Amino acid sequence: MTEKDQVKQPKIPLLTPYKLGKFELTHRVVLAPLTRQRSYGNIPQPHAILYYTQRTTKGGLLISEATGVSDTATGYEHTPGIWSKEQIEAWKPIVDAVHAKGGIFFCQIWHAGRVSNKNFQPNGQAPISPSDKVLTDENFTPPRKLSIEEIPFVVDDFRIAARHAIEAGFDGVEIHGAHGYLVDQFLKDNVNDRTDEYGGSMENRCRFALDIVKAVANEIGADKVGIRLSPFTDYMQSGDSDPKGLGLYMAKSLNEYDILYCHMVEPRMISIEEKIECQHHSLVPMRKVFKGSFICAGWYNMEDGNKAVSENATDLVAYGRLFLANPDLPKRFELNAPLNKYNRETFYTSHPVHGYTDYPFLESSKDSEGEKSTLLGPFDCD
Ligand SMILES: Cc1cc2nc3c(=O)[nH]c(=O)nc-3n(C[C@H](O)[C@H](O)[C@H](O)COP(=O)(O)O)c2cc1C
Repeated sequence: MTEKDQVKQPKIPLLTPYKLGKFELTHRVVLAPLTRQRSYGNIPQPHAILYYTQRTTKGGLLISEATGVSDTATGYEHTPGIWSKEQIEAWKPIVDAVHAKGGIFFCQIWHAGRVSNKNFQPNGQAPISPSDKVLTDENFTPPRKLSIEEIPFVVDDFRIAARHAIEAGFDGVEIHGAHGYLVDQFLKDNVNDRTDEYGGSMENRCRFALDIVKAVANEIGADKVGIRLSPFTDYMQSGDSDPKGLGLYMAKSLNEYDILYCHMVEPRMISIEEKIECQHHSLVPMRKVFKGSFICAGWYNMEDGNKAVSENATDLVAYGRLFLANPDLPKRFELNAPLNKYNRETFYTSHPVHGYTDYPFLESSKDSEGEKSTLLGPFDCD
């Protein structure tokens, strides 16, 4: 069978079209947000044009790496921001290039909260957090608990960042409410010990996230807003005593704002470094409650992505490490081709090419004829 004949075969579920609000997606394989730490001085760099366009398909959805909303938002070196004019201008050619190839591009807007260090903070100040609870890793500076009067200003930073993202040309924003960063710190009772209206009950702990959703949706339109949540993970020591209840409460509350999508991370991703038993479809209860589009993520391969879509457990599937290592991932799924194995060593290094834009495409891949050592097994994600 020739490649052309194969393309004519009935589409696999992941490669069927999907209407995401006003966006006509041609397939359901989403580029997950991936911090790459190559934005020197928090400014997106021209090399990101190649990186993102390599992963762009006509009608494919891309979510950018986590992008700081303000000068207190940074948690790691060389992560991009979108609070300054210079950053907005630097994003423009990257976004334009993705659009030129027909991609749909959302900016993940982010505040690291306590997952930061005074060296990344203006005037060497302490990072902010809902509480003064300290991360045990000493790379992070003990945080300063936000006063209730300060909270609206942080919410406003998200609103302004969303406006900036639209100015830069992005099609929308994804609010980063996952993985132990500021929004998640408010959501989870392991970190949030506040006794005011932003802490205590689930309703109170969700208030900060929902204030941001409301402010951002009012600013740029709910049809351009998504949120990423990881109720089940305890990444960065941000866990909750009732993750399912939290996920359901958020899914239900988000309906009030009519946002475009909810993006949730499977519980099996308890941390990026640690692999646990694969559990699928744990997010189905939230998917059922949430009225907008649903994206799931976390340890998916082609087979279980197809299964999730065909069983209506999700609308879209976001791929992180597989997409990082396989710029032509949708094509490889279409042809059921072997996958490049990712190199963890270069996930967060700062080189503008190595481990970034030098993963081979199918046509140029030496591995395409089945060299076993370079192929991934179904759950061989780590
Ligand atoms: C190198 C790397 C960087 C990541 N950066 C982000 C990020 O900026 N924002 C985010 O929400 N998740 C981030 N994640 C998590 C991924 O989006 C994804 O949820 C995770 O890798 C699990 O999906 P996978 O099994 O398809 O890789 C990152 C993961 C990796 C490996």
